[in-house]
Amino acid sequence: MKQPPPRFLSVQVVFLLSIFSFPQQPASRKYTNLTDLESLLAFKAQVRDPHAILSTNWTSNTSFCNWIGVSCSRRHHERVTAIDFLNFPLQGTISPHLSNLSFLSRLDLANCSLAGSIPQVLSQLPRLEELYLEENSLYGSIPTAIFNMSSLVQFFCSDNNLSGTLISNGSNITLPRLQRISLSANQLTGEIPSSFAQCRDLESLSLSLNEFNGIIPADLGSLTELRKLYLGGNRLSGIIPKSLGNLTKLDGFDLSINMLTGIIPKELGNLANLQNLLLGDNGFSGSIPTSLLNCSRIEIFELAVNNLTGPVPASIGKSMPLLTRLLLGGNRLSGDLDFITSLSNCRDLYYLHLIGNELRGVLPSSIGNLSINLQHLFAGLNFIRGEVPTGLKNLSNLVSLHLGGNELIGTIPLSFPRLEKLQYMSLHGNGISGSIPSELGLLRSLNVLRLENNRLVGPIPYSISNISGIQYLALSGNRLSSNIPLDFWSLTSLIELHLSKNMLDGLLPSVGSLEYLNILDLSSNMLSGNLSSSLGRLQVLTHLDLSNNSFEGQIPSSLSGLISIKYLNLSNNFLSGDLPKSLANLSYLEILDLSFNKLEGQIPEGRVFSNLSIPSLEGNTALCGAPLLDFPPCPSNAVNFHSTRKLQLIKYILPPILFVVLGFASFCLIRVIYQRRKKITVTRTVSTGLDEQRVISYLELVRATENFSDANLVGKGSFGSVFRGCLDDGLTVAVKVLNLEVEGALKSFDEECRALSMVRHRNLIKIISICSNHDFKALVLQFMPNMSLERWIYGNNQCLDLLQRLNIMVDVSSALEYLHHHLPRTVLHCDLKPSNVLLDEGMVAHLGDFGIAKLMFGDNQSVVTATTRGTIGYIAPGL
Ligand SMILES: *[C@@H]1O[C@H](CO)[C@@H](O)[C@H](O)[C@H]1NC(C)=O
Ligand SMILES: *[C@@H]1O[C@H](CO)[C@@H](O)[C@H](O)[C@H]1NC(C)=O
Ligand SMILES: *[C@@H]1O[C@H](CO)[C@@H](O)[C@H](O)[C@H]1NC(C)=O
Ligand SMILES: *[C@@H]1O[C@H](CO)[C@@H](O)[C@H](O)[C@H]1NC(C)=O
Ligand SMILES: *[C@@H]1O[C@H](CO)[C@@H](O)[C@H](O)[C@H]1NC(C)=O
Ligand SMILES: *[C@@H]1O[C@H](CO)[C@@H](O)[C@H](O)[C@H]1NC(C)=O
Ligand SMILES: *[C@@H]1O[C@H](CO)[C@@H](O)[C@H](O)[C@H]1NC(C)=O
Ligand SMILES: *[C@@H]1O[C@H](CO)[C@@H](O)[C@H](O)[C@H]1NC(C)=O
Ligand SMILES: *[C@@H]1O[C@H](CO)[C@@H](O)[C@H](O)[C@H]1NC(C)=O
Ligand SMILES: *[C@@H]1O[C@H](CO)[C@@H](O)[C@H](O)[C@H]1NC(C)=O
Repeated sequence: MKQPPPRFLSVQVVFLLSIFSFPQQPASRKYTNLTDLESLLAFKAQVRDPHAILSTNWTSNTSFCNWIGVSCSRRHHERVTAIDFLNFPLQGTISPHLSNLSFLSRLDLANCSLAGSIPQVLSQLPRLEELYLEENSLYGSIPTAIFNMSSLVQFFCSDNNLSGTLISNGSNITLPRLQRISLSANQLTGEIPSSFAQCRDLESLSLSLNEFNGIIPADLGSLTELRKLYLGGNRLSGIIPKSLGNLTKLDGFDLSINMLTGIIPKELGNLANLQNLLLGDNGFSGSIPTSLLNCSRIEIFELAVNNLTGPVPASIGKSMPLLTRLLLGGNRLSGDLDFITSLSNCRDLYYLHLIGNELRGVLPSSIGNLSINLQHLFAGLNFIRGEVPTGLKNLSNLVSLHLGGNELIGTIPLSFPRLEKLQYMSLHGNGISGSIPSELGLLRSLNVLRLENNRLVGPIPYSISNISGIQYLALSGNRLSSNIPLDFWSLTSLIELHLSKNMLDGLLPSVGSLEYLNILDLSSNMLSGNLSSSLGRLQVLTHLDLSNNSFEGQIPSSLSGLISIKYLNLSNNFLSGDLPKSLANLSYLEILDLSFNKLEGQIPEGRVFSNLSIPSLEGNTALCGAPLLDFPPCPSNAVNFHSTRKLQLIKYILPPILFVVLGFASFCLIRVIYQRRKKITVTRTVSTGLDEQRVISYLELVRATENFSDANLVGKGSFGSVFRGCLDDGLTVAVKVLNLEVEGALKSFDEECRALSMVRHRNLIKIISICSNHDFKALVLQFMPNMSLERWIYGNNQCLDLLQRLNIMVDVSSALEYLHHHLPRTVLHCDLKPSNVLLDEGMVAHLGDFGIAKLMFGDNQSVVTATTRGTIGYIAPGL
């Protein structure tokens, strides 16, 4: 090996020194350019450098001042002043030895795939002004000493995995030169130190997306240089301090997604430079202060999902001409829609979100004058009346249009197809009539088309099958007739297809090419013919509902190919023949309903069949087996209903014996079935109303509840009491007795009856009977032995595990989903709270208490408002 020249030797010695950490005398240490070299090599040693950037460039035959990422000051004899590695995937950890670069003023290690913690000693860099460590995977807490660096001007540490509090109680942030700090997107906790207020030059403070709690320090109002204040996505509570109205240079202000309450202070109207105001997802109440109209430079105005009331200022568009996004959805804003006219002044508006308020009136035709740049128009779930304005056709850049859940009437405008960029269109839950214009098929960009729950008539236009990218199509709950266009079944991108509750007829053709289909709901139509065996090719289908049609023939055994299916409802058809054994192989199947068909033969065993209850199988011709469910045992193996071949064989061998035996058996069977059916048909039609419940007399209720004794009292609600009772036939029920003295109780009763009469869902409390006369009214409900969720959550000795909680959440959501989307009229629960979620013996959650259910009608019928009654609960904010 060649002897290297002496200079290089010394470099290598130093390198070895650094690696093996020779003992040194820190006390007498004098920082030189040699220390810098040493530190850089130590830094290099601690990164993995997978792209060999340092190992090929940081070579010993050139001065470190020429190394990539290193800047030196020649004036100070080649001392390192900056290290810049932005976006270099170095990997590894930050070497504490960097703290010996005593002339370093900028350290940029942002987005370098670094892990580990931030070395405390970095705070000893006496000249460090800029420290950029964002977008790494650093963890641990930020060393407190960093908040005590007299030189620091910029500190960026966002998008890491840092935790802990910023400083300990009692100590202060002392960063006298700090101008910009961002610690967002970490897991930092504790309160926001009010001593940030001592950083007089602070221009930008970003602490968003952490877990900070406590209040917003009022002292921040003294940071007169502040331009950006980002505190969104934390757990801050309390109010917005009025003092923040003094931050007159502020242009970006984000407090969204916290738990702030109180009113929006009118002092914020002093923030004349404000461009972005984000206060969404909090608990702000009161009205939108008109003083905010002074903030004439606002571009993003976001107050969605709060508890704001009152009108939207009519001149909002005049006062804020630069608006690009206006988001006010999910509040309780009321009043008319005149402000929309003023928004035509905002030539850059591209996002308008008003969903889920209490806005009333007719959409002004001036909506067509809104900015041509408007891409998203969400105005659903309000009380908007009148026709869909034809002016919408001018908004040719519209991507989303949501007007669902209003009171719109008239027809779907023929001019819509001009909206060529439309991807999302929802007019569901209105009173829109007429037929579906075939021109809709020209909306080639549509992904989502929701027209369900209107009064549409006529056929489904063939042209819709031209929308080749459609993923979600819902036309259910209309009066559509005729066939389902054949080409529908080649819309291969479909994920959900909802066509239930129409008058569609015809056959179900081969559906096997819909390979992404998750949900297929064709229930409650007049479809007929055999079930296509191609159904079994829908491998990602989770939900198949073909109930209430006229399908006939056998259940194809190919249904065992539905390997993802969770919900399968074939009830109320004319399906006949054996139950395919293979259904017992479907491992995710949870709910199977085969009731009211003409099925026969042995009920398979295993998987879904082991948990099946009578209602899912009742009303069939001749099912047998499943002794636990009271079905008759199948005839002995020799005469197995299931294997028809054997049956035939026997028929030929022993015809006379068979004749006698079968004759007798079927006589018995028919009798049994007849009796069952008689019993069953009484309950069968409960699906649509109260007219067929069992009749329970007042006296029976008195007996059942031991004269409404306190011992049987299980709860008291706003309008009455609930008793446990045991009916004469042994059925345990809950009896909800109305307190007729309370004003409004009667109306509540009627509303609840009305609501209940429309609903039937496994996660809603089932009504068994209504007992009603002049001075006594009671609802007899399914009894829930495990009481309310409230007891489980707030009670002392009960505890739910994670899975149970998850199941309850899913149950409640599906109940709500059903109430909101699957009824002819949207039913708002209006009083959702743990005490209204009841658990049955299997811990399945059932939603109860429609006492204040608000019925929203899709047409011009008056709205039964119930806003002032009930207890404080959760009302869905909207979509
Ligand atoms: C940096 O200095 C500290 C003491 O200030 C010392 O312990 C450490 O070894 C030094 N590192 C290098 C690379 O010189
Ligand atoms: C330094 O040495 C490397 C190999 O170690 C070589 O590739 C490079 O060209 C040399 N650079 C100079 C400036 O001599
Ligand atoms: C190292 O990178 C710097 C900056 O890209 C370059 O100027 C220098 O020539 C490189 N040195 C070597 C040895 O590759
Ligand atoms: C390091 O600093 C010394 C003075 O302290 C200076 O003489 C020398 O040239 C510097 N070394 C390099 C490589 O610049
Ligand atoms: C981070 O660096 C990688 C390259 O290492 C780059 O692809 C990526 O875009 C950077 N991320 C950001 C947010 O700049
Ligand atoms: C901040 O630094 C000063 C010296 O610069 C020191 O006296 C003080 O104790 C430090 N405070 C904290 C909280 O670290
Ligand atoms: C962040 O830290 C938490 C624990 O402190 C850990 O569970 C999580 O995996 C980390 N995330 C990343 C992206 O490193
Ligand atoms: C923190 O600042 C407050 C107010 O400026 C002061 O009263 C207090 O003494 C300071 N605490 C420390 C530890 O410096
Ligand atoms: C706003 O600043 C003014 C003077 O700069 C001061 O008098 C007032 O108290 C401050 N307001 C708040 C709420 O702090
Ligand atoms: C909303 O505001 C009303 C008063 O306007 C209040 O009664 C209600 O409790 C608030 N709701 C929430 C969820 O904060």
